[in-house]
Amino acid sequence: MRAAVLREAGRLAIEVLDVPEPGPGEIRVQVRATGVCHTDLTVVEGKMPVPRPVVLGHEGAGVVDAVGAGVADLSVGDHVVLTITPGCGVCRQCQLGALGLCEVAAPHMIDGRLSYGQQRLTKGAERINHFALQSSFAEYAVVDRRAAVKVPDDVPFDIACLTACGVSTGFGAAVVRAGVEAGETVLVIGAGGVGLAAVLGAVTAGAARVIVADRSAAACQLAEDLGATDSIVVDEDTNLVSRVRALTRGTGGGGLGGGGGGVDVAIDAVGTGGTAAAAFNALRRGGRAVVVGVADPRATVSVPLYHLIDQRVLTGSTNGSIRPQVDIPRILDLYRAGRLPLDRLVTRRYPLEDIGQAMAELGVKPGRAVITF
Ligand SMILES: NC(=O)c1ccc[n+]([C@@H]2O[C@H](COP(=O)([O-])OP(=O)(O)OC[C@H]3O[C@@H](n4cnc5c(N)ncnc54)[C@H](O)[C@@H]3O)[C@@H](O)[C@H]2O)c1
Ligand SMILES: [Zn+2]
Ligand SMILES: [Zn+2]
Repeated sequence: MRAAVLREAGRLAIEVLDVPEPGPGEIRVQVRATGVCHTDLTVVEGKMPVPRPVVLGHEGAGVVDAVGAGVADLSVGDHVVLTITPGCGVCRQCQLGALGLCEVAAPHMIDGRLSYGQQRLTKGAERINHFALQSSFAEYAVVDRRAAVKVPDDVPFDIACLTACGVSTGFGAAVVRAGVEAGETVLVIGAGGVGLAAVLGAVTAGAARVIVADRSAAACQLAEDLGATDSIVVDEDTNLVSRVRALTRGTGGGGLGGGGGGVDVAIDAVGTGGTAAAAFNALRRGGRAVVVGVADPRATVSVPLYHLIDQRVLTGSTNGSIRPQVDIPRILDLYRAGRLPLDRLVTRRYPLEDIGQAMAELGVKPGRAVITF
């Protein structure tokens, strides 16, 4: 099968690998579409310690092509989305409902293995590493059955795939993790695939106002097209917190050093020390900031102690803290009902051979790129 393999930082190459065989409790999926998420680029750039050679890609959707022993509830021909947070279902974190923190599967997100530590990718005698429990930049992916979410046949693969990571992360950050309530004001920093999905989540939850900040005017425009009420094009000199406070003056009361105004919820879909602190500092007293961006995996965040005393919350989220088997079908039902325009997030479609171009455009061109097979 053809797959995009990363052997050295900065260079993805199409290679022919063996078609992987599903073991017990696993399925093989013929990948039909996979979104290109910024986390893949972070690995390509060598900023995340993933063992190489590796097949990246973690926003896959496709058709079940073979089922391993013991898989009774999925059949060849079923349409599935490959979730990055399958969970094992039985560990303490899974039982508490935090599947993204699963004690069994989560440690394997970036160690080259699948949910239970197994490896299925080979090129002759050579072992090839997995990424994010799926490796969807390939014609076929073998995954743990729990990593597959059955979805309706009428959802196009290039839409369904978005819910594997970017859409579930952004939508879930707003709806699940932050719990946006009707009438609230939400700030989203970074309007890429994840941030735009956070805008859609906030709008779906009934936010009265959704303020977006991005370096790109085109990204801000797309966010407004998707329902953002205000946008701020930022550069290095922008004081985002004071701009947001000026826009929201009279709505919150800032507390010590707050300066008035402030948003109920802020979502950082960029992920630097600066953007995470800005998200937190733009909150009203008692507001909630959720960091989902990881532009710099080694970043630290420093915030005023008194803003914590004022009951502002700074937290983060893996994959929007969703319950994949519940929330992915729900998100797609909203799409099918015409109430969530996921199709407008997809601005570019490429064959696997053009994966390099899709990567190079991340954060440059607005919207999501999808590889279709
Ligand atoms: N927590 C999770 O589970 C999870 C899941 C998916 C992605 N991510 C992370 O989320 C981040 C966003 O991913 P994406 O796929 O949406 O990326 P993207 O490249 O599609 O979008 C990033 C956007 O941020 C903007 N931007 C960059 N620096 C900025 C700054 N300083 N201020 C304002 N805007 C800025 C860019 O112009 C771009 O529009 C990445 O760091 C990715 O690794 C995390
Ligand atoms: Zn992702
Ligand atoms: Zn678990």
